[in-house]
Amino acid sequence: TPMYLRDYQESVYQIPKVDLTIELDDERTLVRSSMTVERNTNRVEQDVLVLDGHDMELVTIHIDGVLLSTDQYQVSQESLIINHCPGNFVLTIETMINPKANTALEGIYKSGGAFCSQCEAEGFRRITYFLDRPDVMSIYTTTIIADKDKYPFLLSNGNCIERKDLEHGKHLVSWHDPFHKPCYLFALVAGDFDLLEDAFTTKSGRNVDLQLFVDKGNLFKAHYAMQALKDSMAWDEQVFDLEYDLDIYMIVAVDFFNMGAMENKGLNVFNSKYVLADERSATDDDFFNIQAVIGHEYFHNWTGNRVTCRDWFQLSLKEGLTVFRDQQFSADMHQKDVTRINNVRVLRAHQFAEDAGPMAHPIRPEKVVEMNNFYTLTVYEKGSEVIRMLHTLLGETGFQRGIKEYIARHDGQAVTCDDFINAMADANDRDLSQFSLWYSQVGTPQVHANATYDLQSKSLSLRLSQTPGAGQQHPPLLIPIGFELLNPKTGETMRQGVLSLSDAAQTFEFEELALQPVIALLTGFSAPVKLDFPQSNDDLLRIMTSANDGFSRWEASQSLFRQCIANYYKDTGYRLPDSLQQAFANILDADIEPAFKALQITLPGFAEMTEFLQDVEPQRLLAALEQFEQDLLNSQTAKLTSIYQQCTERLFGDSEQASGLRALKNACLHYLAGDEDFDGEVVSQFRQARNMTEQIAALNAAAQYNLPSFENINNAFAEQWQEDTLVMDKWFAIQAKVQDGNIFERLQSLLSHPKFSMENPNRVRSLVGSFANSNPKYFHDPSGKGYEWLATQIAILDKINPQVASRLITGLIQGQGFCQEVQSRLRKQLAGLQKLENISADIGEKISAALAK
Ligand code: ARG
Ligand code: ZN
Repeated sequence: TPMYLRDYQESVYQIPKVDLTIELDDERTLVRSSMTVERNTNRVEQDVLVLDGHDMELVTIHIDGVLLSTDQYQVSQESLIINHCPGNFVLTIETMINPKANTALEGIYKSGGAFCSQCEAEGFRRITYFLDRPDVMSIYTTTIIADKDKYPFLLSNGNCIERKDLEHGKHLVSWHDPFHKPCYLFALVAGDFDLLEDAFTTKSGRNVDLQLFVDKGNLFKAHYAMQALKDSMAWDEQVFDLEYDLDIYMIVAVDFFNMGAMENKGLNVFNSKYVLADERSATDDDFFNIQAVIGHEYFHNWTGNRVTCRDWFQLSLKEGLTVFRDQQFSADMHQKDVTRINNVRVLRAHQFAEDAGPMAHPIRPEKVVEMNNFYTLTVYEKGSEVIRMLHTLLGETGFQRGIKEYIARHDGQAVTCDDFINAMADANDRDLSQFSLWYSQVGTPQVHANATYDLQSKSLSLRLSQTPGAGQQHPPLLIPIGFELLNPKTGETMRQGVLSLSDAAQTFEFEELALQPVIALLTGFSAPVKLDFPQSNDDLLRIMTSANDGFSRWEASQSLFRQCIANYYKDTGYRLPDSLQQAFANILDADIEPAFKALQITLPGFAEMTEFLQDVEPQRLLAALEQFEQDLLNSQTAKLTSIYQQCTERLFGDSEQASGLRALKNACLHYLAGDEDFDGEVVSQFRQARNMTEQIAALNAAAQYNLPSFENINNAFAEQWQEDTLVMDKWFAIQAKVQDGNIFERLQSLLSHPKFSMENPNRVRSLVGSFANSNPKYFHDPSGKGYEWLATQIAILDKINPQVASRLITGLIQGQGFCQEVQSRLRKQLAGLQKLENISADIGEKISAALAK
């Protein structure tokens, strides 16, 4: 049953204090919860307490020490209802849970030999009966009891207050968290780990112990994450003036995890993929992501934990803001332009598709069936773009002033997106009511631009207009549009700034321009919109070489490529025009940062092109992309080869810029491997690789073009890395991408590979997810086999882990960009899934939305 934002009501009861005692056992874990319950003083008439609970056995209930008889309460699938409660009382509940059987990985579950927990969004109700909503905030004291040999480390939130040995080889550890928090921030971990310790002194002098727990034998892979944590702490002090607030910060890396990581107060639990790394086994992208996720979870301590969400419709309050913070952190730690471009690539390839699909929702959703379905690119990435627009409109100083006000007003509270906007507005004496429409609009708005230059008056008039995303209606938004006016001859920047588009259509005048400028619009990707502004190749080339703004330089080259690919798509006889050959050669020759050049020669992919075209026939688009790439290669083989070789040579020196060089080298490799004669080079890159970035790129290229050496190096790789599960995930991902007609047999046999498991989300994403998202040729096989294979795996997975199943279904529900044949084949699979018995609310919500279209 759906929940609506408009139906929000305050909780009748609060639980200011909770004492938990958890006796861990694989199949029979006993949870004793003793809660101080208080009724809202203005709700005297209400004496029924409804607690959330799911999938557990109720043992006893006491009110103020008196055992309740069964006629005093009712238990259902989803709740425990206690009648005739007093206004203030101590409620004690004992429940029995089975962590080992918990394959949904919500609540308390086992990951390998360890116990761990995941409570966001609604997992706490699988541990004990509770008011499982973020506006119920409590002080927790948690006592964990477990076998001492097997589980020497017993961890929870806050500070450790007691530790003692018990009989039968057990021990007990108690934790106290001095901060009020919602139950979604509760965490528990028990296990035997290797521990990396360090310390950080905050700028006001607090000494914080930093502890990073990893599976035994993995300590050598923990150092980078620890450094990332210290960098995050320092950055948040410098840029946001925010300090850590407890004496200890713990991070535990586990192998079984539904998402990336979780910001539980003082005790983050991480997917091991976002912690463990060393040069040999992790790629440059892995290192980047680890730092970003460590930062993200750390930054949540203020934006999420100290100030949290009133209800789950407000998720973007903490996620959009925290993604913005982690993106700024990454931009400061790396090349700004490159970081920004990568943010935009994700948004345009995937969030735009979500915004055009059946599950489209505002960054603050209004209707939710399964909350886990709303941890989306829209809430996170578009949410971050909305915060970024605010940053653009207010400037860094104004933005920071707003953040200070927000925290001063709401520290310790559970609040709404409106509270955030109000704090930003008041601190800056601005009216942000029009801006706040971004929280309720759905779909990707379009901005149309049109420029005329008048020679006589030396003025330029730029007309901008906006239209809502497909099928939507809403009043005009406030859209910041970055611009740069370039001298067409010299490339100098004549003007730059930000225009505020606030009407449906508006004209902006620029006076005293001696000659007609080339206009770069939406600089920095200043708003999450589609820009419709046809420009000549000459203008694009001018922007590509001369704009100050890195995003615009990159975007100009992408725009040239997109238009050209569209021509290949429309006309199968189309061939590379000279102008494009020249443009490509110019990029290759340009004296620019290797990492940036790598991005400039990386073509828009299948997903991005699907957004750009209409009624796409997948195989035709793939053929166009392939032919375009082939023609680019043929026109510039010599240059590509020489850059490839130069990078290889420079990489042997100890260069600071190593990761940029590797990116450029591998971007060239991607083209060069299209020629079978390059097979030997691919093999030698594979064999000589001194790090995972180079090794995996070689294997990937061999798989992409199914080169003669593929099977050989593929087996060598699996042999070399069989004991490293994270590397084997990369291997599985590559198996799912092999461009080979036997792919379905290959996929099928991999399902029973000894290293594969449907119960481990990382494995599933590597094999099943990689096939659906990164092998468009066979996923969109005209026989429909690809869709059928995915649907089959989803049906199996839905019984094991609905959350993971629901994420994988994206490929089946986002068919809106494709032609009718594709859409009807997809619907057929969805209809089949819908007919199955007992499908989860998770996939059920998405399937109904898709079939209703
Ligand atoms: N708050 C976490 C983060 O963004 C994500 C946890 C979401 N978990 C879930 N099961 N939906 O870092
Ligand atoms: Zn987050």
